[in-house]
Amino acid sequence: MTSSAPQSSRSIRASGAHPDHLGHVIFIAAAAAMGGFLFGYDSSVINGAVEAIRDRYDIGSAALAQVIAIALIGCAIGAATAGRIADRIGRIRVMQIAAVLFTVSAVGSALPFSLWDFALWRVVGGFAIGMASVIGPAYIAEVAPPAYRGRLGSFQQAAIVIGIAVSQLVNWGLLNASGGDQRGTLMGLEAWQVMLGVMVVPAVLYGLLSFAIPESPRFLISVGRRERAREILAEVEGESGDLDARVAEIENAMNSEHKSAFKDLLGGGFFFKPIVWIGIGLSVFQQFVGINVAFYYSSTLWQSVGVDPTESFFYSFTTSIINIVGTVIAMIFVDRIGRRPLAIIGSVGMVVGLALEAWAFSFDLVDGRLPAAQGWIALIAAHVFVLFFALSWGVVVWVMLGEMFPNRIRAAALGVAASAQWIANWAITASFPSLADWNLSVTYVIYTAFAALSVPFVLRYVKETKGKALEEMG
Ligand code: GLC
Repeated sequence: MTSSAPQSSRSIRASGAHPDHLGHVIFIAAAAAMGGFLFGYDSSVINGAVEAIRDRYDIGSAALAQVIAIALIGCAIGAATAGRIADRIGRIRVMQIAAVLFTVSAVGSALPFSLWDFALWRVVGGFAIGMASVIGPAYIAEVAPPAYRGRLGSFQQAAIVIGIAVSQLVNWGLLNASGGDQRGTLMGLEAWQVMLGVMVVPAVLYGLLSFAIPESPRFLISVGRRERAREILAEVEGESGDLDARVAEIENAMNSEHKSAFKDLLGGGFFFKPIVWIGIGLSVFQQFVGINVAFYYSSTLWQSVGVDPTESFFYSFTTSIINIVGTVIAMIFVDRIGRRPLAIIGSVGMVVGLALEAWAFSFDLVDGRLPAAQGWIALIAAHVFVLFFALSWGVVVWVMLGEMFPNRIRAAALGVAASAQWIANWAITASFPSLADWNLSVTYVIYTAFAALSVPFVLRYVKETKGKALEEMG
């Protein structure tokens, strides 16, 4: 992308929402971030249902792992397709499709006829998660005024971490109410069915909220609906600036790019453009530091310091509180100090936490437990790691993926990068059990190495996006 007129770029960059409009913009971003809540809830609620599924269908660990992991493949496909669908039918319609898929998957997976049926509904849910992971960041970046874009964009990650925390609380509460048995009866259903089924509530709310928020002005301009785009810009930024100039600016920037979004992803050949690879790199590093091991396999850690397995859901909730605290810190700083410095501070902190975990797990387990001192160090180190992830890569990657690509390819490129992220997530979570059996300490050394490598990656390839207009990206 080459041609944004410098004069009007400056006018867009300077424009922040008028205080009267800020409340409205916050509502819009929060409504779109409901998809993030469902992403967090749905991807983590399954932890409370695994034993019930194993028992009900009488399957071994390997088959169980496949049934669980298959949802992540649904996520990758959902993410890969969401961008292109969003470019055809609009951002809001994609949210509505995701809301319907979340709803049917909640009902279907709570009331399955067979194991295959259950796996199918989990894939459908995964597809919805993948769509939500793309459409939230893209839409929020496109409606947010530049000065607040980082903070509003971080609503998505805030909603994801709240979704994870709520699912842990729901799992813990339902498990206690059903006498510690995932198959214990509650309201005529088994506990695990309620865990999955209650997702209908946020799913329907997401669908309803999507009718209350406007279509992205950038999408409207891309399909020639200038007038409606102008109205929405007035709604989110106020009437004060020269809105016609702003519409023209966005239009010019788009026209200077190639017409075909998908062809434009490719850098003149088979390979993607460098900017798309940078997005893929951000995604892969975000996952290869092993963040989801901390969430999906937290019981390994808790049990190694002697916590009872049934109580581990409650303790996992404390990890989520740290995750939420880190996210709030990131929200405060992302528009002040910028995305790159935050990412680098986070990487350094993650290296320290992960290296300490590697050290602690190099000691032999006795009866499944670490020696007391190493156990505590492992526990504290794991929380240092989660805190630094949350205040950096958790927020920064989703914010940047929403804003770093030129308008014409944004949704499609974000789809490719998010899809890579789901595949990386799958690779880490599927390999962890075997790696941990082989050597837990070396496993953490690998994650430490990725956290360390992320520093030169950011310094060399990632450009700061703080405060820039979307028309200046590329
Ligand atoms: C980010 C990651 C996601 C992870 C979450 C944890 O959203 O993309 O995989 O579960 O952070 O807070």
